[in-house]
Amino acid sequence: MSIYVSRQLLLCIFLFSSTLLSLSHGRFTPNFRVQAVNLGGWLVTEGWIKPSLFDGIPNKDFLDGTGLQFKSVTIGKYLCAELGGGTIIVANRTSASGWETFKVWRINATSFQFRVFNKQFVGLDAAGNGIDVVAVSNAPGSGTFEIIRKPDDLSRVRIKAPNGFFLQAKSEVLVTANSKGDGAWGEDDPSVFEMTFSDRLHGEFQVTNGYGPEMAPHIMKLALTSSTLSLEHLCLFGYPFSLCFHVVKEHWSTYIVEEDFKFISSNGLNAVRIPVGWWIASDPTPPKPYVGGSLQALDNAFLWAQKYNIKVIIDLHAAAGSQNGFEHSSSRDGSQEWGQTDENIQETVAVIDFLTARYAKSPSLYAVELLNEPRSPGATLESVIKYYRDGYNAVRKHSSTAYVVMSNRLGPMDPKELFPLASGLQGTVIDVHYYNLFWPEVFDSMTVQQNIDFINTNRSAQLNEVTTANGPLTFVGEWVAEWQVKDATKEDYQRFAAAQLKLWGRATFGWAYWTLRNVNNHWSLEWMIKNGYISL
Ligand SMILES: *[C@@H]1O[C@H](CO)[C@@H](O)[C@H](O)[C@H]1NC(C)=O
Ligand SMILES: *[C@@H]1O[C@H](CO)[C@@H](O)[C@H](O)[C@H]1NC(C)=O
Ligand SMILES: *[C@@H]1O[C@H](CO)[C@@H](O)[C@H](O)[C@H]1NC(C)=O
Repeated sequence: MSIYVSRQLLLCIFLFSSTLLSLSHGRFTPNFRVQAVNLGGWLVTEGWIKPSLFDGIPNKDFLDGTGLQFKSVTIGKYLCAELGGGTIIVANRTSASGWETFKVWRINATSFQFRVFNKQFVGLDAAGNGIDVVAVSNAPGSGTFEIIRKPDDLSRVRIKAPNGFFLQAKSEVLVTANSKGDGAWGEDDPSVFEMTFSDRLHGEFQVTNGYGPEMAPHIMKLALTSSTLSLEHLCLFGYPFSLCFHVVKEHWSTYIVEEDFKFISSNGLNAVRIPVGWWIASDPTPPKPYVGGSLQALDNAFLWAQKYNIKVIIDLHAAAGSQNGFEHSSSRDGSQEWGQTDENIQETVAVIDFLTARYAKSPSLYAVELLNEPRSPGATLESVIKYYRDGYNAVRKHSSTAYVVMSNRLGPMDPKELFPLASGLQGTVIDVHYYNLFWPEVFDSMTVQQNIDFINTNRSAQLNEVTTANGPLTFVGEWVAEWQVKDATKEDYQRFAAAQLKLWGRATFGWAYWTLRNVNNHWSLEWMIKNGYISL
C-alpha cells in the first residue's frame, strides 16, 4: 500500500472513531430482546454449511484432521499405534477405533504427517535400524509420508515413507519402511493396505491449509484495491469504512452482503451474532495457514448493521488451540488444547481486547461473547472462569455498555456453574444452546409431537433454571428448527419452530437462530422465512 493510501486509511479510521464517539449509552436493563440470526460459516468456515468452498482443493480427501485407518491386505488386520502412541506401529488389530486411527497433518497436497491417539507423530526409528515404523516424536518434523492410491480402486493404497521406500506389514508386530512398492496391488503384497476414512474436518484450518498459501487468499478474502481509494469515498453516510474499498468477490465478500442486512432488518430480526476466529486480531497477517482480510469483512458488517439498525453480537467462536476440538473452533486435528496455559488464556483475552477496542464506539456493538462452547472436561471450569473474568475486564476497559456473553460449557457441567462469577458483574449474559439433536438415544427416535413436548417440558425447565431475577440475563444463542424426524411436513416444521420461538421469547436477553444461510434448508433462516416455515 502506498503512503498516499495509508494516510487516507488513517483518516478513515479517525473519522470512523470520532463519528461514533458520542453514540454510546447505558443499557444494562435491556429495553428489547434480541431476535437474532447467526452469520455462521462466514468468518469461521464450516464445510457442511457451504461445501462448495472446498471444491477446488487439490487432493481434498486428505485435509488436516482426516482420520485414516489402514488394514493390511496380507494380514487382514489394522495398523495400530501400540498403546496409543509412544512406541512401535503394529498390524494386529481386528477392528479399528482410536489407536488404529492416523490423523492427517497436511504439509502440501501430497505430503502428510500422521498423528496418533496420544498425539505423537509417525516416523522411522532413527535410533534403531532406521526402517521400523514408530510413533514416538511429540513434535512434527519426523518426515512426511505420501499416500499412493490404486488408480481403479481408491481405497487401496501404499504409503511412501520419508526414506523413499514403502511401508509393509511383514508380520503382526513388524511394520517397516523398506518395500519398493512396485508390485501389482495383489492380495499377497504386504505394502498394500485397505484405507478407510473415520473422521473428516472441514473448518477454517482445513480450507486455508488445503488451498495453501498461494490460493487460499484468493478463495477467502476481500482483496483491497487501492485504485478506488479516494477522498470522495470517505464518510458517505458518516461511516466510511467499506466505502473506502473496492472489493473483489470472494467468499467473505459474497457469502454475506449488505442485502442480507436489509433482509434481516425487514423480517423481524434486530441483531446478528457473528462468529469470528482468534486470527482476526492479527489481520492482515495472521499466522499460517490463516488468511488476512476477515477483519475487513467484519468492518463491513458493522457498517451495514448501522445502516439497517441491526445490533451486533461478536462471538469468539474459535480460540487458539481450539476450545472444543470441533471444526467450528478451527481445530487442526480434533485436538482441544485451549485454556491449558495462562499464556493461551491471555492470548485469547487479547483478542477480546482488540475486538472491543475496535468496535466499542459503534452504536451497533451490542455484546461481546467471550468464547463459544468451551467443552468440559478439557476446558476446565477453573480455566473458563479465569478467562471469563479477564475477558470481562478487557471488554469493560473499552465499553461500559456492551453486554458480555459467557457461553455455558458443553459436556458434563452444571448449567449454573457460571453464576457465582456472572452474578457479581454488571451486564453479563449466559448463552445456552438448545438443539433437539446430537443426543441419539433421546432424539433419534422422537416423533413430531415428542419433539414439541420436549421443548415445552424439558427445555422449558432448563431455561427456567438459568433464568433468575438477580443472575445474568439468558440468551439462547443457537437453536434451529431441525430434528431427526423423517418425512415431516411443512406444518410439522411450523409447529416445531413456533413452539421454540414461544419458549425462547422467555429468555431475558433473547435468542439467535443457527444460521442465516446453509445448503441444508432447515438450517437456513433465510430459506425458512422465504418459504413460509418461520415468520416473526
Ligand atoms: C499386538 O502386538 C503387541 C506387540 O507385540 C502386543 O503387545 C499386543 O498385545 C498385540 N495385540 C493384540 C490384540 O494382539
Ligand atoms: C511437498 O512437501 C514435501 C515435503 O516437504 C516436498 O518434498 C515436496 O516438494 C512438496 N511438494 C510440493 C508440490 O510443493
Ligand atoms: C423430559 O422431561 C420429562 C418430564 O419431566 C422426563 O420424564 C424425561 O425424562 C425428560 N427427558 C430427558 C431426556 O431428560
